Amino acid sequence: MSGLVVAVDGPAGTGKSSVSRSLARALDAHYLDTGAMYRIATLSMLRAHVDLTDPDAIAAASDVPLSVGHDPDVDRAYLGGEDVSAEIRGDEVTRAVSAVSAVPQVRTRLVALQRELASGPDNVVVEGRDIGTVVLPDADVKIFLTASAETRARRRNDQNVAVGLVDDYETVLADVRRRDHLDSTRALSPLRPAEDAVIVDTSDMNEAEVVAHLLQLVEQRSGAVR
Ligand code: DC
Repeated sequence: MSGLVVAVDGPAGTGKSSVSRSLARALDAHYLDTGAMYRIATLSMLRAHVDLTDPDAIAAASDVPLSVGHDPDVDRAYLGGEDVSAEIRGDEVTRAVSAVSAVPQVRTRLVALQRELASGPDNVVVEGRDIGTVVLPDADVKIFLTASAETRARRRNDQNVAVGLVDDYETVLADVRRRDHLDSTRALSPLRPAEDAVIVDTSDMNEAEVVAHLLQLVEQRSGAVR
């Protein structure tokens, strides 16, 4: 018997990652961070000096030996046998990942892997951008987290300031708007809620409130938490 499958999609800055991890903990579920998979593929290509302005070159390099863990409390991202969990969060990867994740061959390969990892007897929370629409259209519960551009920009600017980067809300806001436009208008797997997703706006909620709300939704939508 397969476990409960929960898809959590939405843009960056909605608290998606911490909320998905908390949800996985509460449901005693595996947690799958699909963004990490795109990041590992990107790191591999950066190291191999693949020309990231050339989609054919990216496609040719898309057979990356990657693996990820499923514990919501421990980040495990491997390229070959090497733990790259910290490196994939760096600026260089963050800047380059959009180019890599826009290439069809990369997506086809990673989507197949994501489906394989999400199948099985355990409950699973899968976090990404296209989980409810493309990767797992039969998920038991689909959640789409949103927050206003202003809220997401404020959260990101606060994070920047906390790590000693420049305090520049207006520039961050312009960047958030630019990325929203790119993400929602791209031809391949644009960022949009599935028809049957529950849209949750986290602008005026703290993390604990969001998690409590999602647990309620999971309970309602799945009949009972298995
Ligand atoms: O969630 P994140 O920032 O770690 O995601 C990294 C990048 O991968 C981001 O540019 C969006 C992309 N991504 C995607 O295209 N599809 C997914 N299912 C997950 C992430």
